[in-house]
Order: sequence, then C-alpha cells, then structure tokens
Amino acid sequence: MIIVIIGAQWGDEGKGKVVDLLADRFDIVSRYQGGHNAGHSVYVGDKAFVLRLMPSGIIHQDKTCVLGNGMVIDPKAFFEEIDQIREKGVDVSPERLKVSSRAHLIMPYHRALDHTSEERLGNEKIGTTLRGIGPAYEDKAGRRGIRVADAMSPDVLKLRVERNLEEANRIIVLFGQQPLRADEILEEMTPLVERLRPYVCETSHFLAEARKANKKILLEGAQATLLDVDHGTYPYVTSSNPTAGGASVGAGIPPHHITGVLGIVRTYATRVGEGPFPTEMLEGEEDVANLIRERGNEYGSVTKRPRRCGWFDAVGTRYAAELNGFDSVALTKLDVLDALDELKVCIGYEIDGKRIDTFPAVSHDLRQIKPVYETLPGWKTDTLGITNFEDLPDNAKKYVQFLSDRIGVEIGLISTGPERDQTIILKESVMESWFTS
Ligand code: IMP
Repeated sequence: MIIVIIGAQWGDEGKGKVVDLLADRFDIVSRYQGGHNAGHSVYVGDKAFVLRLMPSGIIHQDKTCVLGNGMVIDPKAFFEEIDQIREKGVDVSPERLKVSSRAHLIMPYHRALDHTSEERLGNEKIGTTLRGIGPAYEDKAGRRGIRVADAMSPDVLKLRVERNLEEANRIIVLFGQQPLRADEILEEMTPLVERLRPYVCETSHFLAEARKANKKILLEGAQATLLDVDHGTYPYVTSSNPTAGGASVGAGIPPHHITGVLGIVRTYATRVGEGPFPTEMLEGEEDVANLIRERGNEYGSVTKRPRRCGWFDAVGTRYAAELNGFDSVALTKLDVLDALDELKVCIGYEIDGKRIDTFPAVSHDLRQIKPVYETLPGWKTDTLGITNFEDLPDNAKKYVQFLSDRIGVEIGLISTGPERDQTIILKESVMESWFTS
C-alpha cells in the first residue's frame, strides 16, 4: 500500500498530526519535495515536535523515513533538526533515515539569493521563507545544482561551489551585499557533508524493494496544492510540485503503484506570505480573523509570521480534489470554529459580474475575485476532543456534510484538537480502511 498525503489549500492544514496518526499503520514515511520551508507541528503527550525537513514518521522509533530525490536539503538544517529530535529521546540513526543521493543541496549562497530576489521584487515579493528553496530549485532546473551524490566527492563539491558562487556573487554584490567566499562555504559544508554520508541511499530503489516486500509506504507532501509551482497561484507559489503527480517523480515511484491519495483540508483557510487569497477576512472581519488566529494558533511554525485567515473556499478545495484525485479527506481544526455565530463558505467566484466555478490561472484575476458565499449557522458548543461523529452538535455535522458535498469527496477523518486522540474516524470510509488494513 502506498498512500500520498497532500494539503489541499495554501499549507498549514494540519498535515503533521494526520501523518503522525497514520504513520502508526505504515512502515516507511517519505517526503518527496520541498525542504525546510515546511513546518509540521506534532504533539505527543507533553512533547511538541516542530519538523521541517524530516517526515513526521521520524518520531516513531520503528519507522523508516526517507528524504526523496525531489527534495532540496540544507545540511545544516538537517543536522540541527536531528539533534533536536535526539534531545527529546528519539533515535535518528542512518538505519532509519535515508537521504536520496539525487536530492539537491541548499548552499549558503541560495539563502543569500533568496533574500536578494525578494528585495528585487519589492512590492511584488513572494513572501518566501528565505530558506534558499527557490534558488536551489532554480539551480536544479538550470542543471548546475549540487546533488547529494556530487557532494560526496570533495573535488566535485569544490568545483561546483567555486563555479556556482562566481555567478551567485555577481547578483549578491549587485544588491550591495558582501560577496560570499568559496573557502568559507567549503569549510562549513565539508564536515556536514561527511556527517551526511552514512544517510545517503538510492532511495527510489529502496522504496521499490520495500513495496515488493509488502511494506506500507506513506508519501508526505509539504506545502500544499495551491502553492504548487504548476497548479498553484503562480507566481506566489513554492518552487516544487506538492500535488500527487509530484509524489511519483519526487520519490521515484511509478504512478500506478500509488494506491490512494489523501487530502488534508482545514475547516477555514489561511495563507502565509503574499499572493491572492479570495476568501481572506479583511475590513470588517478583523475580529473573526483574530479569533481564528488565536484559537487556531495560526502563526508560522517556521517563520512565526501571523497567518492570513479566511473563510473556507470550496472552489479552491474542489480544484485541489480534482488535481490530486483525493480518495478521502481529513478535515482539521473543527474545534477552532466552536466560538463563531455563523460560518461563510465560498461556493463560487464572481469576476466583473460574471460567475465562475473554476479556479482561474491568472493571479491577477484572483485578486479581483468577489467570493460568492453561503452562510451556515455556527454551533457555539465545545467540540474539543470529541471522538464520535454522532456526538458532534447538529450544526457541526451539517457544516462537515456541506463541505464534503461541495468538495465532492468523502470526509473520512475530523480533527477536534491537536492531540492524537482528539480525532474522529468516520465509519465505513476509505480513510477507515487505511487505518485498519
Ligand atoms: P518558499 O517555499 O520559501 O520559496 O516560499 C514560497 C511561498 O510558499 C511563500 O508564500 C511561503 O510563505 C509559502 N510556503 C512555503 N512553505 C510553506 C509551508 O510549509 N506552509 C505554508 N506556506 C509555505
């Protein structure tokens, strides 16, 4: 069994908790794109883990975790995260953590270039995490990137760093910053790369063998559908493909070996960074946005930026369901809405007085969009920790059913709090079969 798990909105849907729950049933958890721009918060008892590069399965000692070929890896961030997880008593040895020899490395000049690129864009900036993700993928597509396997050879590493830095420094200097020095980069990188060596693996082969041995594999997407470089709100996107097709490429797994796709959807929407957000709560709705931000702790787990909050966008989410082919959806953060009198759901868009029901390709259009809302009554009852669907207040049940109908996919799991056991799994759902098979 190979299941892909993908955020349906602009990220931060609560994938971490769901992956962590499902990981119990799987042998291997692999990421397939992105890098340490991700931030998954996972709570286990009194321990909180913020995972950036690592798949959420890493906190389960008996799981093997894979960083796939589609990822970009900052070696410094990699070891900082390993050290933090170890401090909390979890083993992270090369026996249970495999890094693709084909993944690309993020170098210090990528971080510097991320800054200059954002500066250059001024008001049009993307609002990136400034982790060097975009520039590392640019080098990959430009066929000058440094793959993990290249870095294992000191001569190749030196040659590539010197050559790439020459180009990078031209831009860095143009923006009035100090040029970086190749010898300093090599001095910093060489011991890190040596420490990385035992983790390096031909991960697509490893995953193929695991599948043949009937191991269960979970492919964990980072960021989310509407941040996909092809399908998202371009150019306000990340530089990789979180969507289901990206899982096949980024983990090196044939598409027809993937058995199911799970979408993670939050009961409302948020976005960090710039870019269009049709259902954003703006003037007149600041109080609701603040309430949701506080109740839902909507602050970036990596950058700590307050997240922009908005109503549920059924058009965007249906688009995500169609693109990814969701078999089931996990709906997160139901309890956050307990305090609201009424809930708006965007069921269509209007541009220049014309109604559209699809997600347009031009980000300019998205800015001009007038969402068409349907308003549903709130439930004003505490749902925190409820584990049976029948125990939910009627209006909460109706809200869940409404979203499911609009997205066109079953809701198989409802999260009613941050803890593992604050979860409802719907009976006879596809989701239930993944938990029980
Ligand atoms: P980058 O991935 O750092 O290049 O940032 C590109 C865009 O994706 C920015 O709008 C970021 O805020 C957003 N982004 C990147 N990673 C995440 C994430 O894990 N959650 C939510 N937004 C993200």
